[in-house]
Amino acid sequence: MRVLGLETSCDETAAAVVVDGRRPLSDVIASQIDVHRRWGGVVPELASRNHLVQLLPVVDEALSRAGVTLDQIDGIAVTAGPGLAGALLVGVQAAKALAWSAQKPLVAVHHLAGHLHAIRLAPDPPEFPFLGLVVSGGHTSLYAVTLADGLPRYELLGCTLDDAAGEAFDKVAKLLGLPYPGGIQIDRLAKGGDPAAWRFPRALAHEGNLDFSFSGLKTALRLHLERHGRPEGQALNDLCASFQEAIVDVLAQKALAAARREGIARIVLCGGVAANSRLRAVLTERAGAAGMAVFLPAPKLCTDNGAMIAAAGTFLLERGERAGLDLNADPALRL
Ligand code: KG4
Ligand code: ZN
Repeated sequence: MRVLGLETSCDETAAAVVVDGRRPLSDVIASQIDVHRRWGGVVPELASRNHLVQLLPVVDEALSRAGVTLDQIDGIAVTAGPGLAGALLVGVQAAKALAWSAQKPLVAVHHLAGHLHAIRLAPDPPEFPFLGLVVSGGHTSLYAVTLADGLPRYELLGCTLDDAAGEAFDKVAKLLGLPYPGGIQIDRLAKGGDPAAWRFPRALAHEGNLDFSFSGLKTALRLHLERHGRPEGQALNDLCASFQEAIVDVLAQKALAAARREGIARIVLCGGVAANSRLRAVLTERAGAAGMAVFLPAPKLCTDNGAMIAAAGTFLLERGERAGLDLNADPALRL
């Protein structure tokens, strides 16, 4: 089954063609980073306007790189939520128009289900059930993902009580004067730094629950900068590494605690922050020591993309799920 996946929930306009939910024939992403950088973050209205301009060229490019026409597609999958309302609407309306004009089945995909299915595009995807840690700019959540009557079921085990991990990366990067999006900049600078140079708080680390909190860490960084000034050179590398370590430590600790509690030995890391090199290394090492397996999507499939939406959508289409032409975007869609 060849599925066209569309994703416009935030600031990436993305389309991909995926075969059988496993093999991408194309994966085109038009990033709006340059549009939003001067504002230091995503401006929702600018995001939707840019999706309008970019989406059809991106779909054409995805089809042409895959070497297929719309007629040769077996279904269309689109992110219906959660995300920015105007941004989501562009993708949903376009998907409905394409499905109607080409008479193709349409399916709605939850953005986080998309992230959790990115791992199905890896050469060696995990079996169900697995523990999914979704860490992105908008979410930090732990799910037990099982199959019930052939369809994935997502049980929320814990989530952030305030900022998402990616949001903490981006806000702290802004405090440090680094360009948006900050996660990737901090990852890069941290590579040359000492993660033990400073000790930042690990909120809720020793609580019995699986929730997260990152707003205190952000405040700790702000106070640190007020006290010590903005560092440069090696001191900046050390500060980035120490801040990153506080996030990575808590994420790895909670993921392992969840896996142990649920008796699931497979952990899937996904979402934009899953591209973080230190998080990938620490989680792999700690899970290995605990006899658990970690599954990591390729870094390009961690941040928002159309292939993960096509992969998740294929699962639903194959089991007969369909969305009607009354499908609407839902910024607060539940998984
Ligand atoms: O999944 P995503 O592309 O969009 C959302 O659904 O939010 O995630 C974007 C987030 C941003 O906060 C960005 O800074 C973060 O992922 N990110 C990273 C890295 N690459 C992207 N954070 C840490 N290290 C990275 N290498
Ligand atoms: Zn995302």
